[in-house]
Amino acid sequence: MKVHVNGIELAYSDEGHGAPVVFLHAFPLNRSTWEPQVVGLAGRYRVITIDLRGHGESDAPTWRYTLDQFADDVKGLLDHLAISKATFVGLSMGGYILFAFYRKYPALIQALVLADTRATADAPDAKAARFSMAQVAYRRGAAAIADLMIPKLLSPASLTHRKDLQEQLRAIITGNQVSGIIGDLMAMEERPNSTPLLSTVTVPTLVIVGEDDVASPPDEVEEMSRHVPGATFVVIPGAGHLSNVENPEAFNAAIRTFLDSLEKREKEGLTEK
Ligand code: MLT
Repeated sequence: MKVHVNGIELAYSDEGHGAPVVFLHAFPLNRSTWEPQVVGLAGRYRVITIDLRGHGESDAPTWRYTLDQFADDVKGLLDHLAISKATFVGLSMGGYILFAFYRKYPALIQALVLADTRATADAPDAKAARFSMAQVAYRRGAAAIADLMIPKLLSPASLTHRKDLQEQLRAIITGNQVSGIIGDLMAMEERPNSTPLLSTVTVPTLVIVGEDDVASPPDEVEEMSRHVPGATFVVIPGAGHLSNVENPEAFNAAIRTFLDSLEKREKEGLTEK
């Protein structure tokens, strides 16, 4: 399905019934990476997955991209779907967008799941690497970005044994426009440090990381989780950066347990009153 928001066509899927759970994908992928969550969770929840601006079937305008603008696109979709509150799951860049969304639209957030992501801003060398990667995209196209990114997205075990997954990711990445890839890189490069935001988070939060994540290492992600009041921290075994794709059973189980605990807390709150 598509909706016109903020001057572009945004593609999304809306599956199942129940409390809404909105999923924001990583760089430079698309909403199909949430397929294991659609399969595993739509029996009980309303699962909404979005091709963020610049990805998949959404438009990829040649123009400035910012994390606030991604957050505005998500808000536009929620307005279209008449959803006033949801749980949000963001993986890596999806997590960066959730920090922007939290700043702009906190009242829309029931709960947060931050997966394989970081609150810190890019250090100077990381900023320089964004510029270099944008030049690779400009000169050699999305296939060259797939070559650079796949080794960062998957665990060493998946890189050795999961050729199927590597091919799936290659098809997703090469299906993206260079304008979108470069837009993402600019948006991520200029993101602020969200560490000060963490201690102000008042919604229930689950922090997830793949045990073999090289892009956002488990110890850094655990440290981030310590700043969020009451956050739960879960390590996904046998997974790298794309923990939801590499070990969907454990990822979905973590989300189910978290959402169950919220429901339980809500019911207990209601009975106490
Ligand atoms: C992602 O998976 O979204 C990227 O690794 C994030 C980043 O490059 O900082």
